[in-house]
Amino acid sequence: MEYGPAPEDPKEASAWLDRHGRRFGHFVNGAWLAPATGEYFETIDPSNGEKLASVAQGSATDIDAAVTAARAAAAEWAALAPHSRARYLYALARLVQKHSRLLAVLETMDNGKPIRESRDIDIPLVARHFYHHAGWAHLLGQEFPEYVPCGVVGQIIPWNFPLLMLAWKIAPALATGNTVVLKPAEFTPLTALLFAELCQEAELPAGVVNIVTGDGRTGEALVKHPDVDKIAFTGSTEVGRAIRAATAISHKRLSLELGGKSPSIVFEDADLDSTVEGLVDGIWFNQGQVCCAGSRLLMQESIAEALIAKVQQRMSTLRIGAPLDKAIDIGAIVARVQLDRIHKLVDQGVAEGATCWQPQVTLPARGFYYPPTLLSNVHPTSIVAQQEIFGPVLAAMTFRTPSEAVDLANNTAYGLAACAWSESVNVALHVAAQLKAGVVWVNCTNMFDAACGFGGYRESGYGREGGREGLLEYMEQAWFKKAPMLKPEVSGLGSQVAGKPDDVTSAGKAGRDADSLTDSSSAIDRTVKLYIGGKQARPDSGYSMEVRGSDGRLLGEAPLGNRKDIRNAVEAARKASAWTKATAHNRAQVLYYCAENLSQRRAEIAQRLAAVVGDKQAAAEVELGIQRIFSYAAWADKFDGAVHNPPFRNIAIAMNEAIGTVGVICPREAPLLGFLSVVMPALAMGNTVIAVPSEAYPLIAGDLYQVFDTSDLPGGAVNIVTGYVSQLLKTLAEHDDVDAIWSFADEASAASAKAMSVGNLKQVFTNEGRAIDWFDSKVAEGRWFLEHAVQVKNIWVPYGE
Ligand code: NAI
Repeated sequence: MEYGPAPEDPKEASAWLDRHGRRFGHFVNGAWLAPATGEYFETIDPSNGEKLASVAQGSATDIDAAVTAARAAAAEWAALAPHSRARYLYALARLVQKHSRLLAVLETMDNGKPIRESRDIDIPLVARHFYHHAGWAHLLGQEFPEYVPCGVVGQIIPWNFPLLMLAWKIAPALATGNTVVLKPAEFTPLTALLFAELCQEAELPAGVVNIVTGDGRTGEALVKHPDVDKIAFTGSTEVGRAIRAATAISHKRLSLELGGKSPSIVFEDADLDSTVEGLVDGIWFNQGQVCCAGSRLLMQESIAEALIAKVQQRMSTLRIGAPLDKAIDIGAIVARVQLDRIHKLVDQGVAEGATCWQPQVTLPARGFYYPPTLLSNVHPTSIVAQQEIFGPVLAAMTFRTPSEAVDLANNTAYGLAACAWSESVNVALHVAAQLKAGVVWVNCTNMFDAACGFGGYRESGYGREGGREGLLEYMEQAWFKKAPMLKPEVSGLGSQVAGKPDDVTSAGKAGRDADSLTDSSSAIDRTVKLYIGGKQARPDSGYSMEVRGSDGRLLGEAPLGNRKDIRNAVEAARKASAWTKATAHNRAQVLYYCAENLSQRRAEIAQRLAAVVGDKQAAAEVELGIQRIFSYAAWADKFDGAVHNPPFRNIAIAMNEAIGTVGVICPREAPLLGFLSVVMPALAMGNTVIAVPSEAYPLIAGDLYQVFDTSDLPGGAVNIVTGYVSQLLKTLAEHDDVDAIWSFADEASAASAKAMSVGNLKQVFTNEGRAIDWFDSKVAEGRWFLEHAVQVKNIWVPYGE
């Protein structure tokens, strides 16, 4: 049987373009604005290469106009009663539904995706997002009473799901009381401009949503604008990295949803026919131009041959052609440059040994098309197994055992999504828990919902879109915004350094050898060591720093840790599986034990600490420190996830997972309480820690490791490296095996933590240089810290026959 053509009529969309004279300005302050430079660019229909319209190229001046409008609208929008904001979001949801066919057709014309997908998936999900967030806007005051909006949010989106990405960005931002400047991708600006008209129709106050079109330069201007409080970005990891570097020295919040190389893992007991349908959806949906595309097929060896045959047979039935045809499976690639990129990567993969298979299909004569492609015999290190191709190309590999599958699946820098196919729910969930991915689909694929967070691990970015955790990306704790800035710190202040680190020659005679110090300690109260892998260790440098009290008296000496010590500490932390695999209950027990042991030594610890911070503060630090450990012991088995109930026959299990190995720069101002306030939440959630204690009183390390040693804390769970904060921070931030950096020192340290960790895009949690009152449990303890100690993994599990 042959399919006849079933074209969708583009008449309405064309009429809409004509009404605008096929030329669009920016949407700023509720009205259309011509670009300051008078420069326009063309957006084309990739299915035939024809021009659709001219669109304004945004300059820094245009961005400034939009940010100014957003700022002017911000206070009033934030002050609206939750119910009033909810009504606007609800109106937008209704308007999306009312104009759904026009939006779907325009999306397909501008992007090249099959109308079936834009009509049945993209646009309904857009409406769902606005409805869901209308509900959140209403509930905000009840559910997040301590939060305020970030302010003016800059949002930059890609071209693969133009309107859906707009909805994922704008709905939560508006619901939480922010105003927005959004820059659509240069290939696909049209539905965002139609959405601007829907904002007018909904009578959204002017300036609440502003849309500035343009290319990467426009995005850059938005990122750099000093009056933007937060940037939310979806796109390539490369640009994500550039944005992270550009925002490091500002206080802008940042969330990044970046690329992926997501695996579909097929076990020998999988239902192969359903799996094949899932694989088709995973990689040929939207021509494979999907950040979470299932672009790697990992097959258990015993079924590889049979599965490949079935996949090839199914590929032969995929229909490729004009995307407005309702019976088309694969439409056009968004632009010539993307098509060239796919060709180049596939050629490279073949040159590296992959076997390329494509069905016999005739591609349309005009436009940008690429046939569905299967690469088999792919080596795990090949470029096509490691890099995002962003096209309809599946790279297949085999494995023997579940643990080999996990290793192979985790063997890229990314961590966005994964699929596990097995009829054994035990195997699938066991594997799901071990995958480094923000979303795992069990026996299904490409499930999305506004109630379920979506986002990556590792170099796929951080922050979530959707769900409760997605809202937190657009809000700040009210107290935090008002907290005063700390004074800049000078390394070595309060402690005299005996010798320079990493520079033995110049340290020379001025420095003193740590061993000899111990021997000549009669004049000195105390020397401590580093604490690495559960053992006291001498510093690699052989040097130490003098620690003085508030009256200048020499209190003792602390080792001057260096790069090598940090590397050893990271290695020990990575090996501390006794902690990372411990149950939450066990972690709680160990923390309670720590509190108990600290309590037993409270008098001597307070007495020593008093020499630096005075009697009163020392006593308070110890008392509150004990309470703080108790608090996180209590949280250890309570800060858990959620089960979502999306509108499909699925449940989505949202698990709070530890981030991994966290480098922590402890606050200077409260050497004991500050240390415990930042290390304990990370530990309670199952992370391992390398802590750099306060430079003002690093001797606290000696008291702490004695507490840890006597509390059954497994070696390597907490490692303590004393020394110059600025140097140790650099090594921690640059270390690829450190997954997150927490910096609670001054403003410069916060900026360095962000700037120096761009390499592997570590998650960074800082005080932004603000003073936190560590003695106030309302601000220095609880959910805010715990939320940063975990990342949410959503595991989707279908049910029913
Ligand atoms: P891109 O990352 O360059 O573009 C995404 C958005 O960022 C666009 O709006 C663009 O104008 C903007 N942009 C570009 N440079 C910028 C800068 N320096 N500062 C601020 N904004 C900037 O993605 P592109 O070039 O369109 O595609 C290249 C590759 O990126 C694709 O082949 C694919 O591998 C990947 N990609 C991944 C996406 C995802 O969702 N994970 C989405 C789009 C692309």
